[in-house]
Amino acid sequence: MERSGTWFKFSAAFFCYLMIVSASLLFRAASVNSEYLIGVGSYDITGPAADVNMMGYAMSGQNAAGIHFRLRSRAFIIAEAATTSSEAKRIAYVNLDACMGSQAVTLSVLSRLKQRYGDLYNEQNVAISGIHTHSGPGGYLQYVIYIITALGFVRQSFDALVDGIETSIVQAHENLKPGAIYLNKDVLLHANINRSPNAYLNNPLAERNRYQYDVDKDMLLLKFVDGTGAAVGALNWFAVHGTSMNNSNLLISGDNKGAASRFMEDWFAKGQIKSSLIREGRAADVNASNSKSTGGSSNTKLSSERNRLRSSTTQSTHFVAAFAQTSSGDVSPNTLGAFCTDTGLPCDFNQSTCDGRNELCIARGPGYPDMFLSTKIIAERQFQKAVDLFEKAQVKLSGRIDYRQTYLNITGVTVSLSPSGTISLPNMTTCPAALGFSFAAGTTDGPGAFDFKQGDNQGNPFWRLVGSALKPPTPQQISCQQPKPILLDTGEITAPSPWAVKCLHLQNSIVPIQILQLGQLIILSVPGEFTTMAGRRLREAITATLVEQGYSTNIEVVISGLTNTYSQYVTTFEEYQVQRYEGASTLYGPHTLSAYIQEMKRLAIALAGGSSVDPGPTPPYLVDQLVGFLPGVVVDSTPAGINFGDVKQDVPQNASYTAGDVVEAVFWSACPRNDLFTNATFSSVEQQSTNGNWIPVFDDEDWELRFLWSRPSSLSPQSFATIRWEIPTMAAPGIYRLRHFGAAKPLIGSSLNYFSGTSLTFTVS
Ligand SMILES: *[C@@H]1O[C@H](CO)[C@@H](O)[C@H](O)[C@H]1NC(C)=O
Ligand SMILES: *[C@@H]1O[C@H](CO)[C@@H](O)[C@H](O)[C@H]1NC(C)=O
Ligand SMILES: *[C@@H]1O[C@H](CO)[C@@H](O)[C@H](O)[C@H]1NC(C)=O
Ligand SMILES: *[C@@H]1O[C@H](CO)[C@@H](O)[C@H](O)[C@H]1NC(C)=O
Ligand SMILES: *[C@@H]1O[C@H](CO)[C@@H](O)[C@H](O)[C@H]1NC(C)=O
Ligand SMILES: *[C@@H]1O[C@H](CO)[C@@H](O)[C@H](O)[C@H]1NC(C)=O
Ligand SMILES: *[C@@H]1O[C@H](CO)[C@@H](O)[C@H](O)[C@H]1NC(C)=O
Repeated sequence: MERSGTWFKFSAAFFCYLMIVSASLLFRAASVNSEYLIGVGSYDITGPAADVNMMGYAMSGQNAAGIHFRLRSRAFIIAEAATTSSEAKRIAYVNLDACMGSQAVTLSVLSRLKQRYGDLYNEQNVAISGIHTHSGPGGYLQYVIYIITALGFVRQSFDALVDGIETSIVQAHENLKPGAIYLNKDVLLHANINRSPNAYLNNPLAERNRYQYDVDKDMLLLKFVDGTGAAVGALNWFAVHGTSMNNSNLLISGDNKGAASRFMEDWFAKGQIKSSLIREGRAADVNASNSKSTGGSSNTKLSSERNRLRSSTTQSTHFVAAFAQTSSGDVSPNTLGAFCTDTGLPCDFNQSTCDGRNELCIARGPGYPDMFLSTKIIAERQFQKAVDLFEKAQVKLSGRIDYRQTYLNITGVTVSLSPSGTISLPNMTTCPAALGFSFAAGTTDGPGAFDFKQGDNQGNPFWRLVGSALKPPTPQQISCQQPKPILLDTGEITAPSPWAVKCLHLQNSIVPIQILQLGQLIILSVPGEFTTMAGRRLREAITATLVEQGYSTNIEVVISGLTNTYSQYVTTFEEYQVQRYEGASTLYGPHTLSAYIQEMKRLAIALAGGSSVDPGPTPPYLVDQLVGFLPGVVVDSTPAGINFGDVKQDVPQNASYTAGDVVEAVFWSACPRNDLFTNATFSSVEQQSTNGNWIPVFDDEDWELRFLWSRPSSLSPQSFATIRWEIPTMAAPGIYRLRHFGAAKPLIGSSLNYFSGTSLTFTVS
């Protein structure tokens, strides 16, 4: 369908005519030249790189202490290019290097967009989805159970997300221009396994027999090109947890999907502009004439900004590649399987325990025992498959853009669908949220980390506050949630004070669901982690519904996981019976999946029929009521005679390295929470050019460069930054140095002292 000229126009028009008349409403609004306007955008959303608990494993003590690579928000806007803009519809799909979409973040972004653009972007047509990295700073969710280990709400984490998402959407909006989208799909093996196979095995045999694998292996990719055919972006969905980095990791990281995005964007930049564009850099602000290290330069933030490599200002480099999440509930990247740390033998198949203990059973990634290598391998497999799909994508998306969205009160849905053909139950409703005992046991990707359970009056101050509001479940709740043994009855607060009832929203009762149509692609936005079989049932039900409503059978339906808000897992009814972690974390009882299928079908029917849907109840916005117990930074200091940015441990004199070597320097530093250095960098590798200038060549966004932050003791105002560079083969021979940028907080006054430090030079040969 890439031919041009009158013949194509005529045949395309005829084709459209046929589709309208014979088949469906699918291509209703399409006209010959009216494909799409496309805009992409991307911005830094890296939150505080110190002290803040990582979101995902809920592991106390797993607090950020540096950056492996920065996190980004990647936005895609697709609009109908109709002449009358009032009729033209659009969608904005945002992919976040974050654990999940958050209701509080989504509502804030929507309100910012409303201020800027009126009704153009709203809860109906904006989808904000998390990649599910477990290595990003937490505290940005408004439902209390998710911020307990973060000691409550963390304003900095929240703001970094809201600001960055808004900026990426604004970029995409301002970038909108005519373009086209191509779809491609293929199987990617060796990048995911099922981590609860015994729960999967409880699904009916006849159903399982229809699938070759116990996880989805398909990657579905969209390639975005502009009017000249030049690529501007790629967006794909593939099911795999962001748990390649384990629960001991303290460096901010986008895990396997964030890394895959970075690799693909850099691959594109290099391929398009032959002379290694991202390494071209700009002249650094300091001209060093000799090999002396220059610690303690006082500085402005501008120096750090200048050392950032990937400027989004030039269109030619602005290629956005996003690796989105789909039905990954029971899907692990740790492809070697789960083993006992004491014996080295596989764990008990049904329980994932070793001698009855869950904490010893730990899954291994393909780079075992190195989690960085595992992350890189799973990232590269996704990246390579995405490149392959991208280069061969030919099926052009065509047809209308439309959407339906509603908020559900998911705690009280009466379900008329039976969970599968064979089972018929009398009282099918969803229940108030509750977590089962296996929730506390965790998974083989992050076992037994939870430090809170009912009746626990220890734990952190935030948990003590929350714990006091919990009561034992009512008989109705026990019966509704059966066979889940209830650990935390988070949906039924009968608190000691009216204040707690009002303020402690432990978990959601109102969740958004959404269906987006982009020509023959249908995206189902769900507020959680669907397991493999749960996702298959939802996709099939929606496909069948749309086909019944007259859609062509060649539609593609994809699930966008962890989108707009978070409400944990959704298993099938049969998997729920097994009550592994995923079943224990299916909050609203055994019929949760049936409720989602039923309600999503309602949206699909409305989409097909052109009718409107009831908006549903409004979710609360709780940010103003949330409390946080994470102490702020009081002061940063250095010992007498030492300046911020001074080198504490330099690279050796006259050192010479080759690719594969690791070089590092330690600087006297300050708490990175003082300034997140958004759109800037804490770390830099500079190379000396022939005229003596220092050119930044690696920064915080690079896989090979790490910024590790530490304190000599937990309450010390002193701190260190280690800048560690693993020299890649791509590094050209030459003279290099390491730099660190930071900002120190004085005891009195609010203005920060910006500083930088520079290591001795060294040679790479
Ligand atoms: C670095 O020094 C060179 C030679 O003296 C000069 O041309 C260049 O402008 C300087 N760069 C900066 C960023 O100051
Ligand atoms: C990010 O930094 C670049 C320079 O590196 C600058 O051109 C751009 O305006 C900055 N973006 C924002 C939103 O501040
Ligand atoms: C797992 O549990 C099932 C059902 O109780 C049982 O049939 C099976 O033998 C168990 N498998 C293993 C390996 O223990
Ligand atoms: C995480 O991986 C590192 C190696 O990268 C290993 O030392 C550590 O024991 C692992 N921790 C867990 C909990 O798996
Ligand atoms: C949700 O539904 C439940 C059960 O019907 C009801 O008790 C609760 O008040 C509803 N919540 C909201 C916010 O409408
Ligand atoms: C179903 O509902 C009826 C009436 O509300 C109740 O008496 C009965 O115990 C319920 N059955 C189950 C299995 O929960
Ligand atoms: C480093 O090299 C310089 C010049 O080649 C030499 O003068 C100096 O002694 C060397 N220093 C060390 C510690 O090897």
